[in-house]
Amino acid sequence: MERIESHPILTFERGKKIRFFFEGRELMAYEGETIAAALHANGIRVLRYTPKKARPQGLFCAIGKCSSCLMEVDGIPNVRTCMTLVKDGMAVRRQKGRGEFLD
Ligand code: FES
Repeated sequence: MERIESHPILTFERGKKIRFFFEGRELMAYEGETIAAALHANGIRVLRYTPKKARPQGLFCAIGKCSSCLMEVDGIPNVRTCMTLVKDGMAVRRQKGRGEFLD
């Protein structure tokens, strides 16, 4: 776990514990966290691969302005995971290329 638990001048209010799935692996998060934050807290740094050269991309701007965090969420590609809240039971996958809708 790599989640900030305490801070000298900030306080954190945590939502209730939930579980979600990253490439089939069950992980823990707190309600109110973004998907990208929950993945980061679980040690996941590579969120997608670029379309042309398949280079790994991770969290970059964290404010929805780039496309570094695009992932497949519950079968929907191109979800900005730095802006999308994690939900109980959610299925998240690394996106390869431009992303395709799953059947
Ligand atoms: S990290 Fe830039 S849009 Fe999510």
